[in-house]
Amino acid sequence: MKNEEKIFNLKERISLREVFTTYENLAEREFLFCGWIRNIRNSKNITFIELNDGSYLKSAQVVLIPENVENYNEIAELNIGASVMLLGKIVLTPNAKQPFEIAVNKIAISGKSTPDYPLQNKRHSMEFLRDIAHLRARTNTFSAVFRVRSVVAMSIHRFFYNHGFIYLNTPIITAADCEGAGEMFRVTTMEDTTKDVKDDFFGKKTSLTVSGQLAAETFSMAFSNVYTFGPTFRAENSHTTKHAAEFWMVEPEMAFCDLESDMVIAEEMIKQVIADVINDCPAELEFFNEFIDKGLLERLQHVLSSDFEKITYTDAVELLKKHNDKFVYKVDWGTDLQTEHERFLTEQIFKKPVFVTDYPKEIKAFYMKVNDDNKTVRAVDMLVPGIGELIGGSQREDNLERLEKRMDELGLDKKDYEWYLDTRRYGSCVHSGFGLGFERMIMYVTGMENIRDVIPFPRTPGNCLY
Ligand code: 4AD
Ligand code: MG
Repeated sequence: MKNEEKIFNLKERISLREVFTTYENLAEREFLFCGWIRNIRNSKNITFIELNDGSYLKSAQVVLIPENVENYNEIAELNIGASVMLLGKIVLTPNAKQPFEIAVNKIAISGKSTPDYPLQNKRHSMEFLRDIAHLRARTNTFSAVFRVRSVVAMSIHRFFYNHGFIYLNTPIITAADCEGAGEMFRVTTMEDTTKDVKDDFFGKKTSLTVSGQLAAETFSMAFSNVYTFGPTFRAENSHTTKHAAEFWMVEPEMAFCDLESDMVIAEEMIKQVIADVINDCPAELEFFNEFIDKGLLERLQHVLSSDFEKITYTDAVELLKKHNDKFVYKVDWGTDLQTEHERFLTEQIFKKPVFVTDYPKEIKAFYMKVNDDNKTVRAVDMLVPGIGELIGGSQREDNLERLEKRMDELGLDKKDYEWYLDTRRYGSCVHSGFGLGFERMIMYVTGMENIRDVIPFPRTPGNCLY
């Protein structure tokens, strides 16, 4: 086949990931490479292109000389950001910074760019990049973040698949407020929201879900072990680095499972995800460890080899009260733990992930099992260094009368939850589950400090670009 025909034969394309991981075996062979120009430099009679195709952190060095490339002058004038397809030979360069180069024989411009392409070959601030979320995946940092995000998602699915869980998709539009915090976005087709909801699309008040848990509970009463992994929405006006209005949550729900076993699964899952990222994304982790968070690799290794700590809320409050002088919000039994307290527990006191259990019932959701003291519930939060709360879960109230009593106390309208109460009427059993904030997990394994930088298109109060 002639070169002219081959150049557009996409079947012959090789990814840079494959080349970077196997180049020793590919020396002197010719392949089709496709990607975007990260940088381009010309000197007399030679042009260097840094080509990146998103499959790997590193860009390949592409070398062009006029004798071999008929459209040399046109290529030499290309701007950063342009896309090209090229046939080139892999040349090993053991004495150079990069292990190989690509010597071009034929090259075609796929799409040109302009001199004002926003991503130039320099460091841009995270804030600047947030405003061009549609382009930032073409930078090293975001390319690494979103490859890791993909690996973590697959790792989670694999973990639950290997443990025999059924993967379930819970609804995004819902009529129930799972967390009871009233932080829901309304879903309506009515222009005038003061009109009777009976005339609305669903004939009742509906919102975007804050959690798939209640639906997952009904399925766990049929399949034993299920999990849902989907988008969730919270209209909380939190301007922090770890709250988003739209985020993804992983929620396993397990029948015939108490809080102790719930924590075992949570710990195993976190360790498996970390092990998979260490294994599948070594280049990315090294990059984060060097440029984003110097202690990252050591911390992740430490998590793998440590047993997570367990402490009750009551004991945690006693420990924290001794350090009240260090906190903006003083700790006292009955108040919710703030991020500063959570981080102090996991970073200063235990120096590893910690499960805090048995919180006061007043600060937790209606569905949690009330303890015999009638003051605390079988709740658990997993706290990790750098973030604070990574997971929130509980053993569920499986007794119909007690659940109804709790709903009455909180003023919930039982009419709306008859379907949920049915699970306690027909074959109820001890069951538990938890929710992992997927973006917080990505922050944890990459060291990225802001949730806006680990989700492709962040939505936060006052911010919904595109
Ligand atoms: O603690 P939460 O509110 O728990 C639930 O929603 C339960 N229904 C889960 C369950 O038991 N099935 O949320 C779970 C996790 C938190 O620990 C946190 O990691 C994350 O979801 N999360 C958020 N992540 C980003 N932005 C927000 N606004 C978040 N709110 C919670
Ligand atoms: Mg929580």
